[in-house]
Amino acid sequence: MNHPKPENNQRHGSAGISLVWVIAGGVVIVVGGFLISLFTPSILPRAGSAQAVLIDDLFRVMLFIGGAIFILVEGLLLVSVIRFRARKGDRGDGPPIPGNTTLELVWTLVPAIIVAVLSIYSFVVWNQIEVHPPEALQVDVVGQRFAWTFNYDAATDELPPNVDMTRVPEELAATLNNGDPISFSHPQLHTWLNHPVTVSMSSQDVNHAFWIPGMRMKQDLLAGRVTTLSFTPIETGVFRIVCAELCGSGHGEMAGRVTEDGDLAGAWLIVHATEQEYLEQFYYPELEKILYPPEDPVLLGRQVIQNYPCAGCHTLSDLGWTGTTGPILDGVASRNARLAATGEGTMEAYLHDSIRHPGEYVVPGFNNLMLQFNPEPDQPNYMPDSDLNAIVAYLLTQTGS
Ligand code: CUA
Repeated sequence: MNHPKPENNQRHGSAGISLVWVIAGGVVIVVGGFLISLFTPSILPRAGSAQAVLIDDLFRVMLFIGGAIFILVEGLLLVSVIRFRARKGDRGDGPPIPGNTTLELVWTLVPAIIVAVLSIYSFVVWNQIEVHPPEALQVDVVGQRFAWTFNYDAATDELPPNVDMTRVPEELAATLNNGDPISFSHPQLHTWLNHPVTVSMSSQDVNHAFWIPGMRMKQDLLAGRVTTLSFTPIETGVFRIVCAELCGSGHGEMAGRVTEDGDLAGAWLIVHATEQEYLEQFYYPELEKILYPPEDPVLLGRQVIQNYPCAGCHTLSDLGWTGTTGPILDGVASRNARLAATGEGTMEAYLHDSIRHPGEYVVPGFNNLMLQFNPEPDQPNYMPDSDLNAIVAYLLTQTGS
């Protein structure tokens, strides 16, 4: 066969690329990669923990390498398109190249070195993050469809100053006198600046994932296992908590939200400036609520219902809830849906059964997703009769259309 010889073959050979161009290209690639890595703070939210700083540094290095490779590949593409474009009337093939050992060694070794370095660097960062300091604030996190609950332990020596034990209910007083800790639940995670916090996470149902983007902390909750995370906040303020594992129709509701009134609803991390501020603004007031519960069952019910993860699924304007997975609780006492459908029971019995045996009557248009709250402490989703009765008394006041 008689191949037409490209007239400008010589000019485009490797000998035509001078060292100056290689050095100039190298400088452009390195400087460009560095400039791209400077975008890190605008890609990620504000780094709120000591661990976030380590992770962002790793991210910056990866963005630098990725940016440099991007400029190299796109740059070569651009140079090839312009410099080796087909000239007018040139219909020939390029020169045949059977192999280039040097080139193949370079494009095998360079990525291998990059991957090895990144692996070692990532492992070092991971090891620095996977530390659970013994002095950390311990909080138990429970994930369930579709809410987060944070459980805080209170030992006898951590009670608010000037506690009047004569006003504390007998059962609580007995526990405290025994030296046993009491615990309380809250829909938000509170802690303070520059002090480590360790969260121990368990799920009541399916797998969830606990994610605080501002802390760069994310960890799956696995059914039947306890997983832990530790971090040290270095910024005060509020940080959104999100569920990052698709867990059902209300998955999107397992995240901190801002209501129309500007209130914080759902799960948020609140970092106080000092331990004293944490104690005075959050810990003592919450403890006082359980140490001195209101005697009026309606007021008590309004208080204790907030210790259960109802807000994730139900709307109740009185408490600022906006969940949509379950029936709306506004005006619930004026709508005996079960009586209308089956001719059975009073409103009080209906509310009672809806909490103890939610699967027995499901309001049409909703799925059977509600947790069953059980009367014994050793059962899952424990809700004592005293809480249940107070909650029913409170819900019975929610009348209207
Ligand atoms: Cu829990 Cu998604």
